[in-house]
Amino acid sequence: MPSRPVKALLSIEPGVDAEQVQESLPDEPDFSIVSVATSAEETIRMLADTPVDVLLVACAGYSDRALLLLEAVVKHNPDQHVMVLGHGSPNGFLRRAFEAGADDIVMLPATREHVRFEIHKLIARKQGSEQPVSAETSRLVCVLGPKGGTGKTLTATNLAVALAQRGERVALIDLDLQFGDVALCLGLPPERTVYDLAQSPGALDFEKLDAFLATHTSGVRTLIAPRRPDQASAVGAELLREVYSILRSTFDWVVVDTPPGFTAEVITSIDSSTDVVMVGMLDSLSLKNTKLGLETLELMKYDPDHIYLLLNRAHSRVGISQSDVEAVLGRAPDILIPSDREIPRTVNEGIPIVIARPQSEPAEAYGQLAELLAAPEAGQEPLVAAAAGGSRSKRRLFGRKA
Ligand SMILES: Nc1ncnc2c1ncn2[C@@H]1O[C@H](COP(=O)(O)OP(=O)(O)OP(=O)(O)O)[C@@H](O)[C@H]1O
Ligand SMILES: [Mg+2]
Repeated sequence: MPSRPVKALLSIEPGVDAEQVQESLPDEPDFSIVSVATSAEETIRMLADTPVDVLLVACAGYSDRALLLLEAVVKHNPDQHVMVLGHGSPNGFLRRAFEAGADDIVMLPATREHVRFEIHKLIARKQGSEQPVSAETSRLVCVLGPKGGTGKTLTATNLAVALAQRGERVALIDLDLQFGDVALCLGLPPERTVYDLAQSPGALDFEKLDAFLATHTSGVRTLIAPRRPDQASAVGAELLREVYSILRSTFDWVVVDTPPGFTAEVITSIDSSTDVVMVGMLDSLSLKNTKLGLETLELMKYDPDHIYLLLNRAHSRVGISQSDVEAVLGRAPDILIPSDREIPRTVNEGIPIVIARPQSEPAEAYGQLAELLAAPEAGQEPLVAAAAGGSRSKRRLFGRKA
């Protein structure tokens, strides 16, 4: 926390519910809005007259005006801290806002406490004085993929079970709120879901949350996605943050399976995470989307040391070599999962391949992913190198002529 109160300038775009924005802003003595601007010109002028710690840009939907304002502010003063307060998750806006210079984006409605936390975090981060996310040792791993059907759910379920097989306490969250299929992949009946949790009255604590977690034979505790797509909207960012915080104080690992793309819930989860596994496939279209996903994480200032790259359906037959992959993505993949007909079979059986076929190449590769993530900081380098260059599956996949 800064030692003096944070001063902010609030720039409100036309069409924004100013009252709702005000209700989301901190009302503690360590924060004050010094002025409110209602146009880009006014904002630039006020910033020049009265420097502030942070500029808050409140906008509704996709706003070209807001993007132009962000670009102008960053051009005039590259050190200005800028936070966007957005509404909805308009296609492409979040990415464009980061590109235009936003340091952080908070989706409204949000609680005063959350916005206050994000503002202080942003200032600390920019000053380079941010403390590690928490002193806790638990980890929250977000499994991401910019496109549908790349193997996110397969990865999240097998990673969770592989971690549990190592004796870790693991919670798995299905954040694909409309079409989640973690329960199917694990053969769990969808008795109680995150929708039921959102509907249940009263404050949330572990005892209550515990009653909504299904238990898999591996020991993985799972929060299952809603049964129907129309129930998805009942699950808000606030609930997710609470759930993550409670789970992190109880489990060694929280693994989050996500829907395709960077939706508002996914951004919330990335913000709460300690690590990301980016899942791509070995074809040129998928590599392009994976690159966009990695660039978006970079724009969000995500620590690259905590981003793991997994390529699914990696097969030499497709004619893309390891150097092609590195040329497109600017980095080597950490883990390769081959195409294997056993995979759809195990999905249909509802038994993850790390349990059903532990000796198979995909199961071994998921085991390597768990090992890579669990390696202590100091031991990470050699393990990454081993997975990137020396693993059995990787040599076989890239070593043969296509
Ligand atoms: N390496 C593989 N070999 C064979 N089949 C695979 C492989 N990876 C994925 N599949 C098949 O593709 C299907 C889709 O995988 P999965 O559900 O994990 O993708 P997803 O990224 O979670 O998709 P969505 O974005 O729709 O949630 C699986 O059910 C499986 O049958
Ligand atoms: Mg999925």
